[in-house]
Amino acid sequence: TDREGVVHDIQAPTDMAMNIMEVVRAYELAPEGTIGICGGMAMCASCQCYVLSDHELPEMGIDEDMMLAEAFYVEDNSRLGCQIAITPELEGLEIELAPESE
Ligand code: FES
Repeated sequence: TDREGVVHDIQAPTDMAMNIMEVVRAYELAPEGTIGICGGMAMCASCQCYVLSDHELPEMGIDEDMMLAEAFYVEDNSRLGCQIAITPELEGLEIELAPESE
């Protein structure tokens, strides 16, 4: 679900070592320059998303945890999209992009 509330059904490649942030950018689901600002280094939180489905995701690393501790609009189900690799286990994953930080 993008920041306008529009739901997109995305087929993300599992063989290209992409992460959620890169998929969002590739499919242009957020305006350029509003997501992936730090290049996927867990240093900007522009890729924050809310995980809506009950998939078991990779554990949060310390960088992600620390970034989310400083970010805006953080919820219990917040993750950084750049820290979650696309794998077949994510089939059916539902996420919503967090609002853009001011
Ligand atoms: Fe900057 Fe994910 S792209 S934290």
